Order: sequence, then structure tokens, then C-alpha cells
Amino acid sequence: MAKLDIINVPDPLLKTVSDPIGQVDAAVRQLMDDMLETMYAAPGIGLAAIQVGVQKRVIVLDIEGDDDERKPLFFVNPEVTWESPEFNVYNEGCLSVPEHYAEVERPAEVKIKYLDYDGKAQEQRVDGLMATCIQHEIDHLNGVVFLDYLSRLKRNMIIKKVQKADKETIIL
Ligand code: NI
Repeated sequence: MAKLDIINVPDPLLKTVSDPIGQVDAAVRQLMDDMLETMYAAPGIGLAAIQVGVQKRVIVLDIEGDDDERKPLFFVNPEVTWESPEFNVYNEGCLSVPEHYAEVERPAEVKIKYLDYDGKAQEQRVDGLMATCIQHEIDHLNGVVFLDYLSRLKRNMIIKKVQKADKETIIL
């Protein structure tokens, strides 16, 4: 496995729509393994391939694992097929928007379909934090970050702060 570099806003790649995966082969599984290592190292609970500069519809999540017992989840070509009329609000963050958080309202429950790590078709109904996370990550595959739900003023302010912090950071 290899740790990958995470890109931050306002990298234009984060605004692009990612391509579907044709087949879950060894190369796709390698990408998922590398993304998982990158996410755990960050640390974060979710990562979309575009955040490591790869325009593929692949997501990794681990919302309940800890260092002792990890519970990784893999989603290839995930799609929301149903949304509940009820909403939830979570204070969201993002590995591509380091150290900034904002409340975002999303459907409280969704049905999703996707291919798993073995390429098997899955369908699942999720709620709570899981529903918010999967929607946040699917947004990434469509070129959307959580900042896009905020006012333009607030969004631009956060982007400027991230850019400034990136310029001041020396990674050795
Ligand atoms: Ni994110």
C-alpha cells in the first residue's frame, strides 16, 4: 500500500465529475487500499478518489472503526436511489478543507446502490452519520464540496484561509 497526497480547495480537480469504473479489478482494489491508508493516516472517516487526484467514482469510509478494530467500507460507482423527506444537520469537515467546519443539511436517510470491494452489486438503506458521510463523498464524485452549500461570502473566506495555510506549510 502507498500513502497518496490529498489535494485541497481550490484545486480545480475538486470541481470535476469523476468517471464510472468499468470493472473492479486489481488496479481498482489497489487504489482502494491506497486511499484507505491515506484516509487513516490523515486521519479522516471518508475519502473520495478525486481527493487524491484520481477521477474515478470510488469512495472509502470508516465511520465506526478505531485503531484497534478498523471497519473499512468500499463503494464503487455509488448512487443514491432514494432520499428521505426528513433532513439531518451535521457539522461537516473535509480532508480537502483542513480545519474548517460548517453545518450542512442533508436527507436524513438514503438508499444507495454500489459495487463493493469484490465488484459485487450491493443495495443498502443508511441513516445517521453514515447517510451524511456517503452523501458528502458522492458529492465529491460530482465535483461538489460541502462549502458549496454555504453562502459565497463564507465559502470564499474559508477557501482563502485554506490557501494561506497551505502556502505557510512546509512539509519535510
Ligand atoms: Ni470531503
